Amino acid sequence: MRLPDESLTRRVFLARSARWGAAAALGGGGALEGALHGARRGGRRDEPRPPLTVPTVRHAASGIALVAGQGAGGGWHGWGYDGAIPGPTLELRRGESLDVTLCNALPEPTSVHWHGLHAPPGMDGQPMQQVAPGGAFRYLFPVAQRAGTHWYHPHPHGRTAGQVARGLAGLLLVRDDEEDALALPRGARELPLVLRDARDRGDGRLGHRRWWLLGYRGDLPMANGAVRPVARVPAAAHRLRVVNAATARVFRLYPGERFPAWILGNDGGLLPEAVRAGEVALSPGERLDLLVDLAGARAGERLTIACRASGWTLATLEVTGEPVPDAWARPWVPPAALSHVEPLVAEPGVVHREFHFFGHWINGRGFDMHHPAFTVRRGVVERWRFRSGLGSPHPVHVHGAHFQVEARRGGRGRVMPWERGWKDTVLLEGGERVDVLVRFDAHAGPYLLHCHRLEHEDAGMMLGFVVA
Ligand code: C2O
Ligand code: CU
Ligand code: CU
Repeated sequence: MRLPDESLTRRVFLARSARWGAAAALGGGGALEGALHGARRGGRRDEPRPPLTVPTVRHAASGIALVAGQGAGGGWHGWGYDGAIPGPTLELRRGESLDVTLCNALPEPTSVHWHGLHAPPGMDGQPMQQVAPGGAFRYLFPVAQRAGTHWYHPHPHGRTAGQVARGLAGLLLVRDDEEDALALPRGARELPLVLRDARDRGDGRLGHRRWWLLGYRGDLPMANGAVRPVARVPAAAHRLRVVNAATARVFRLYPGERFPAWILGNDGGLLPEAVRAGEVALSPGERLDLLVDLAGARAGERLTIACRASGWTLATLEVTGEPVPDAWARPWVPPAALSHVEPLVAEPGVVHREFHFFGHWINGRGFDMHHPAFTVRRGVVERWRFRSGLGSPHPVHVHGAHFQVEARRGGRGRVMPWERGWKDTVLLEGGERVDVLVRFDAHAGPYLLHCHRLEHEDAGMMLGFVVA
């Protein structure tokens, strides 16, 4: 059952204000004042709006420990990395090695999957590589791929949805020289947005139910752990690093028309060139690198990131009057090219594989972690065709490589502007057939193909394959 925003009871409203007030009191007076101000105005639209929190940044190449355990964020409680929902933003540069030791302080097994990184099989956090409660595992591998917006989350067999829904997720950014040369907004002008939904059960705890085919849907939007947060920003261009960390919900992001918004990149890094952003469908697992240009905005003006599917406001940027000393205070002019993307080409006689996503099976099979379904040759381009069936939409995710979307037939009938360049997750709506070209260059060994609607994944909508 879906509880519309409008029917939030006064009790829930007050409970939320109290929770949030307590968090604000710990965090500083300005936020608390905002809460009281909001509460006095009353009404749904003026519900207290928490400030957008920016997760701590940690250097993932410096041998850090990452603790999965109890966590909190935005007045909500659940499970988090280093106690935070979402977890810290991990960063590293191309050429460095990720070196992170996961410590499992949860009451059940977990693992970390580096979604978007080409990790060697033993470091990929696959369902068979679980870390027992009280245990630890050191993930250590070189990151040779180009800059990109990635994320990390648990992937233990049959428990992924529940753990992600309780709060375990964080952003993972890879940077490189190509990206640096573009001088995109950095520092305080770069904001992470970990989006998801949550179900308000009245106790401020993030939970999950296994609604296999439907997926678990929340009745509240959440950005960086808070409901409808506001970031107070100066009148300058901002780069938003967005990930859909919901278990099942597809967002239709819309940054409005008032200010220019540009799509810079997606799952696999920068696009060949920036594309003006209208509505963007972002399904679980997908990322969006978005530039919103607030240069020239007047104090008090707002840009909202809305979801047109649910009617929600996900997050708001509110312009302050503070003067901006940096280069991003001038209207952003997109460069002629953002990045070089090598187009994959299918040779005649290319290996062609078909995958039918139906119910919670792929080609009628459930996941069997001990028997890979097929073998792919490393370094060779293949064409994979994904077809949708009962239970759509299915966000289809491939481990171990990025792919290029070649064609979509049926449904939306075309490759969307944000699906150019490199992807690792592609949305398969009802009635669609999506062809992708994929080449596994990085590592040999076992990898996975699965639906990123995490309830589907946990129910077995996943295939193992081997790169040889
Ligand atoms: Cu983000 Cu195999 O998952
Ligand atoms: Cu992945
Ligand atoms: Cu699915």
